Amino acid sequence: MRLADDEKAMLDGAEGPAVAAAMDLLVRYGEALGAERLCNVRNVAGTMTQPTPAKAKLVREYGWHKAFAVINLDSDGDFEIPHMRVPTCQLQHGFGEDALGVTPYPAELVRIQQDAEAFYGPRGVNILATCTPYQVGNLPVRGEHCAWMESSAVVYANSVLGARTNCEGTASTGAASLTGKIPCWGNHLDENRLGTHLIEAAVPVDSFRDWGMFGYFVGEVVQENRPVVTGTLGHPDLTDLKHFGAATASSGGVELYHIPGITPEAPTLEAAFGGAVPSEKIVYGERERRHVYETLNNQGESTDVDFVLLGCPHASLDQIAKVAHLLEGRRLNPGTELWIMAPRALRTMADRSGYTEIIERAGGRVLTDSCPAMSRVAPEGTRVFATDSAKQAHYLPAILGIEAWFGTLEECVDAAVTGVWRGEL
Ligand code: F3S
Repeated sequence: MRLADDEKAMLDGAEGPAVAAAMDLLVRYGEALGAERLCNVRNVAGTMTQPTPAKAKLVREYGWHKAFAVINLDSDGDFEIPHMRVPTCQLQHGFGEDALGVTPYPAELVRIQQDAEAFYGPRGVNILATCTPYQVGNLPVRGEHCAWMESSAVVYANSVLGARTNCEGTASTGAASLTGKIPCWGNHLDENRLGTHLIEAAVPVDSFRDWGMFGYFVGEVVQENRPVVTGTLGHPDLTDLKHFGAATASSGGVELYHIPGITPEAPTLEAAFGGAVPSEKIVYGERERRHVYETLNNQGESTDVDFVLLGCPHASLDQIAKVAHLLEGRRLNPGTELWIMAPRALRTMADRSGYTEIIERAGGRVLTDSCPAMSRVAPEGTRVFATDSAKQAHYLPAILGIEAWFGTLEECVDAAVTGVWRGEL
């Protein structure tokens, strides 16, 4: 890999041992990938504060500097971690103090995370604590090179914002934070941003549930390729696209899609493919739609719902407002809990707008920082949950060993109020 002068200097230790270790990691990583060079990044979204048993042990024995070296730089060196070189944010992590007594998340992990925030915050890690950093002020511009983790955020950044990032890992984002560099390969390069598969919807896709189901279909058929989707599509909003992308990255590994006339790198169908449009297309019709619905509901047996989970990826303010509207003047079934996951900044706005109070008066909760999949917890005794998120319906049954129902927001709120799943296609 060719290194620029500033990169060589970092590698040689001109900016201290931590930066040298970070550059060493990027060189090893880039060479393994076949990257020819590094590119400059000014926007890193990674995970530094998430508490894990391995991290807790390292911190107990050696402190936070060493924990960062081992976990975020893949180095066993003993050195001080300096201030991050470029703007960096923490994605979702574990639940915080406000969830104690609400979720069964261990208090010990909450304490470790608070320590982590106190260490990383002053070193330039913005504690956004959400899988949707683009909803709370971290909004890269079109063409901007970034180093982001979190599959649902990566596919949003590439596709909806036209920014450029691969799906990075804990170590590569740690190294990018200290150097402002990341290997220039994959989604950073023009030639890897054109569509590969044409998918045509032949049934209407214009509700939140429709976009989730369509995304789940698209991910399943294209896996890690780059779909271009057309057909009977309504005009999606931010929540539809966040749901669609998260679903494509759950059933498959999509990091970039195009919707001609909607997403920025696809003003036309031809532009999405860089010229010739493939003659073959994959059709999403009634049969495929029903298949997706049945797949997402094949983990459900009992219709007695203990838990309703909304906000995956983390909810927008509009989604929180909708839940409040649906719960106004109602009470949850005594045996059913409802949690809506949201970025903490949006929870503050929901508080000011009165939405949180309405939801809590009904017996529901607006929780921040994390989610059941990330923190691996649900309300005590949960056997059956319902969700409007294709991603959670895909992952949570395996993570927590519980049954799942997938449906609309209205069906989920109905299940929270009645305790019974009555969803249908
Ligand atoms: Fe976010 Fe958790 Fe879903 S991190 S994307 S709410 S699985």
